[in-house]
Amino acid sequence: MSLPRRVRVTARAKLNLGLAVGPRRADGFHDLTTVFQSISLADTLLAERQPRGFRLIVRHEPAAERGRLTARTRAAVPVGQANLALRAARLAARHAGITGGARLTLIKRIPAQAGMGGGSADAAAAMAAIFALYDVRVPLAERLELGAELGSDVPFALMGGTALGTGRGERLRPVRGLQSFRAIVAVPAWRVSTARAFAELDRFRYGLTARNAPLRFGKVTGRMVIEPCEFIRLGNSFEAVLGARSPSFTGLCSRMREAGLLEPRMTGSGSAVFGLLARGASVRAVLDRLAGSEAVYVVRSARRALDIGRLR
Ligand code: C5P
Repeated sequence: MSLPRRVRVTARAKLNLGLAVGPRRADGFHDLTTVFQSISLADTLLAERQPRGFRLIVRHEPAAERGRLTARTRAAVPVGQANLALRAARLAARHAGITGGARLTLIKRIPAQAGMGGGSADAAAAMAAIFALYDVRVPLAERLELGAELGSDVPFALMGGTALGTGRGERLRPVRGLQSFRAIVAVPAWRVSTARAFAELDRFRYGLTARNAPLRFGKVTGRMVIEPCEFIRLGNSFEAVLGARSPSFTGLCSRMREAGLLEPRMTGSGSAVFGLLARGASVRAVLDRLAGSEAVYVVRSARRALDIGRLR
């Protein structure tokens, strides 16, 4: 069987349906409890085999239903060597003993530094693309371990669906029975680095309040049928440490509620905020009522994070 000439990977974004951050650990990371959910908004990674070396081109494609991302936001996506996708491709190749290379084209739609796991999705896609291009089978547990070397959210970006995340986010347990949902995600112009957001939590010691979080999340995961709002209501620790951005976050949540969206909640360390669409609600009607300048995305929950297509 010949190797595929090209591979096309769909790499989906995630939302955190609730996120409780605990205290800082000795290794600098924070223990946390969260429920990750894959959503329909996705980047596309095209990979083409080349004899040696890895190259990456990034193209931005607008995906917002309304509003657009600023040039500053686009600039938040690293190009070249600094991009996690390139590091992931190299790591995957080294791990599998692949000596050949690949030319990667990343079509970027997931807003960067918004808490939607865009960089992790691209890293997961690059790993999957390299293994598919060179027809290497790597067991899931091994892929997840490799992903964790790249970032705390990369294992989930490889696994996808709905999962309870613990440890620094890399320990995953699939969650069954979560009802599918549609949501609107609003992305304000401000951005925050993950490291900086965690540092803010330390400053305010809010993490300490999250000690019994595994118990609270565990109670919900045990049910046969779970509504997404049951996790969402468990809160997001980062909402408490927004400082000067707090009024704008509160204002956005109010506008989302007034438009008919349910349980607005921040995802990851922000800045994106998502609100659930009630069953049968008209997206158009909600968007017409939703005031504001944020970039707005219409998404649905997805069962998978990655789709891999091989082109011969
Ligand atoms: O794992 P990742 O590289 O995405 O993390 C970026 C930064 O976010 C880490 O260097 C750390 O400062 C912070 N972090 C944390 N606790 C976590 C995940 C990330 O403190 N569970």
